[in-house]
Amino acid sequence: MMAKARRQQPEKNPPAVQFAHASEEEFARILDFYGLVWQYEPQSFPLREENGRVLEAFTPDFYLPDLDLYVELTTLKQSLVTDKHRKLRRFQERYPDIQVKLLHKSDYLSLLAKYGFGPFSEVEVAGIHEVLISASQLERRVGELGAQISRDYRSQEPLLIGVLRGVTCFMADLMRHISLPLAIDFMAVSSYEGEQSGLVRIMKDLEEPLEGRDVLVIEDIVDTGMTLNALLQELHGRGPASLRVCALLDKRARRLAEVPIDYVGFEIPDEFVVGYGLDFRQKFRNLPFIATLKRDWLNAQAETKERPE
Ligand code: IMP
Ligand code: MG
Repeated sequence: MMAKARRQQPEKNPPAVQFAHASEEEFARILDFYGLVWQYEPQSFPLREENGRVLEAFTPDFYLPDLDLYVELTTLKQSLVTDKHRKLRRFQERYPDIQVKLLHKSDYLSLLAKYGFGPFSEVEVAGIHEVLISASQLERRVGELGAQISRDYRSQEPLLIGVLRGVTCFMADLMRHISLPLAIDFMAVSSYEGEQSGLVRIMKDLEEPLEGRDVLVIEDIVDTGMTLNALLQELHGRGPASLRVCALLDKRARRLAEVPIDYVGFEIPDEFVVGYGLDFRQKFRNLPFIATLKRDWLNAQAETKERPE
């Protein structure tokens, strides 16, 4: 089973919501950009009742299921702000277990930064076009892969081999979802350019022997498949008992070498992606989501001479 990366906003977000205020719409757009699922005014909470009739209720503007958080946006009008503060206090007395945040317009970005999103976060986002796979989608899917691998390798002790460096985030998250005794090792390879294409040069070799072991190669992304194809040939030669592949991303449209991939996180369209370990010239690896780059930005970068590392 494989999940397709969604091109558009998460499908749970309603396509055409009538917002009461422009600031709400702006907030929704920011959430969309980072792939956070939101619901607009999903629920009213009674605050005051008389004879079973609700006299006063509080309806937060947004609910963010990924963060399990209600958000109420504030306006600049002081009279309204005071009233909202009063309502919020009442709400918290009555519903102490529900998380709600009152946000001034300028607070949005700080809130998102706290969760690793947005221009105020410590992550560089210049050049990012759109979020293709959000942090919560990654988390969910990596969990599913880990569970499936745990079932398939039941009573075995797999050796996970990570292909550096793009695999770091994926491998670190995946291994924590595998409920089996296991070992890990890493390899770094670089593809030969030009005439010798199809070969890989081993920049860092494994420390573990493979003979008789159940080996699972972990890859960030399979593009043409040339790297993986050469790598598998090399590893086959070392006599493992079994040899399988788990790749987070599959850019199937660009495949040249037919390589078997046993576990795929997401199939993605033919676009250059960064984040969650993947880089463009060593940048963007620390983004907590997978994103596409702006095309004009990518072209401009390609024209500038590559600086030596
Ligand atoms: P392949 O041999 O063409 O399959 O190349 C796979 C390798 O190219 C991956 O392990 C990545 O290091 C790199 N790569 C391919 N596509 C992308 C991308 O969209 N973003 C970042 N790295 C990529
Ligand atoms: Mg790689």
